[in-house]
Amino acid sequence: MKKVDLGDLRGDIVIFGGVYSNLHALEALINHTINCGISPDNVICTGDVVAYCAYAEDSVKLIREFGCHVLAGNCEQQLAKKSKDCGCGFEEGSVCSILSKTWYAHAKSQVSDLSLDWMSNLPERIVFNHDGLRYGVVHGGASDISKFVWPVDSDGILEDEFNLLQTQIGKLDCLVAGHTGIPMIRDFNKKKWLNSGAIGLPSNDGNIDTNFLTITTKNIKINKLEYDINAAYQAMQATSLIQGYHNTLRTGYWPSQETLPVSMRV
Ligand SMILES: [Fe+2]
Repeated sequence: MKKVDLGDLRGDIVIFGGVYSNLHALEALINHTINCGISPDNVICTGDVVAYCAYAEDSVKLIREFGCHVLAGNCEQQLAKKSKDCGCGFEEGSVCSILSKTWYAHAKSQVSDLSLDWMSNLPERIVFNHDGLRYGVVHGGASDISKFVWPVDSDGILEDEFNLLQTQIGKLDCLVAGHTGIPMIRDFNKKKWLNSGAIGLPSNDGNIDTNFLTITTKNIKINKLEYDINAAYQAMQATSLIQGYHNTLRTGYWPSQETLPVSMRV
């Protein structure tokens, strides 16, 4: 398992994930960090650069050009392995499984060999220190890259994943994950579980802005990202990615809620 230790980070930190081939959202996120004077050395992506939206290859090129730290998501690992699906573990015949066939094939057709090489070399763990706390970053969970850990999950589930990660990378104060697309700041047993949510799709709450996380000496906070939604939507239409996720950009709701715990469905 490839791990990267960033050492001590000083100044504000931006964590984001779930770009999902939404180039317009990625551009907005990068512009935000530039406007705030935050170096790419202090910016971490939790993975899934490529997925539902139109610009798979261009999103990879832009994030590499930007030069922030990037963790492997299941989408990167599956594409790099030339797998037949995204590896989210959707049940065969489920709506997510059917929808993934279209966007995954689109992404697969776009990404270059150079991008696949880059994906295959991404780390699966990132660690860093900030303001006296040690953070460990995973994509889904410590037990599985595609593990979904939801805000409604019990302290016990979080504790098990947290403890497992500590056996992999050493003692931690905070765990940062991605993969679910749902932002989360959760205190439990004197530890913290963070999830930046996704910048590439809204978080199924009817709000069309997407989410990213900031860590400063003052606070840890979920932030809203505004970007050119219409341009991202039109690009999906132009590439026939019209099976449902394109509407999510405009409604704020996912085309299927079957991966969500029942209590989180709306
Ligand atoms: Fe993922």
